[in-house]
Amino acid sequence: MKDHFLTLLRSQATGMADFRAAAKSLSSLIASDIAAQLPMTPCPVRTPLGPTEGVIGRDQVVLIPILRAGLVLLPPFMDLFPQAPIGFFGIRRDEKTALPHLYYENIPTLAPTDRILLLDPMLATGGSALLSLQKLKEKKVDLARATLVTILATPEGMRAVEQAFPEVKIYTVAIDEKLNQHKYIVPGLGDFGDRYFGTELRITRSIHKYTARG
Ligand code: PRP
Ligand code: URA
Repeated sequence: MKDHFLTLLRSQATGMADFRAAAKSLSSLIASDIAAQLPMTPCPVRTPLGPTEGVIGRDQVVLIPILRAGLVLLPPFMDLFPQAPIGFFGIRRDEKTALPHLYYENIPTLAPTDRILLLDPMLATGGSALLSLQKLKEKKVDLARATLVTILATPEGMRAVEQAFPEVKIYTVAIDEKLNQHKYIVPGLGDFGDRYFGTELRITRSIHKYTARG
């Protein structure tokens, strides 16, 4: 099913509402995958009929979406980890250089044992992920307990993260072919944030409006 929803996201025929719906469904499947990989600790539990053995999540999960597009992954993770503190990195790629610019940072106090889930659907050059991981390293986070959760990645982006932070786990739904000269993922799905939040749509609508008025 993940590939089904990814195909909807890729299609240029998918409009904003359907893009949002596909992103929501895919994000839920991803959150389930990640939850299934987390370590559990055995614990005794008493049912109404008596004692038995159960399991409980071992680590405190901390969710850190990279704004904007990382917000799309956040809701299903909040549903699965309702006790998780949430931090934010606001990072935007420069349109000309594709270099990441950090414009906002709000990270909760972190414990060395926290399990960090860094959420961003697109790993292109890797610049945004590297900047976020560098910031986390400065906060003395144990990056061996960090997972970068993405939907699409490039070999370049994966290599960049693996070289700088080999201890970080990377989750992705698909690894695409390459980056184009504008540092967009090919074949990719275009600009995730713009398609999800309707940034381009407003421009298109206003062009139509002006065209209609002649
Ligand atoms: C996009 C995407 C990632 C980043 C990936 O964000 O959401 O954060 O690009 O590219 P990179 O691996 O080359 O850094 P963008 O800068 O477009 O900001 P937005 O999410 O606010 O649209
Ligand atoms: N960010 C996106 O949203 N898409 C890309 O292809 C690259 C970066």
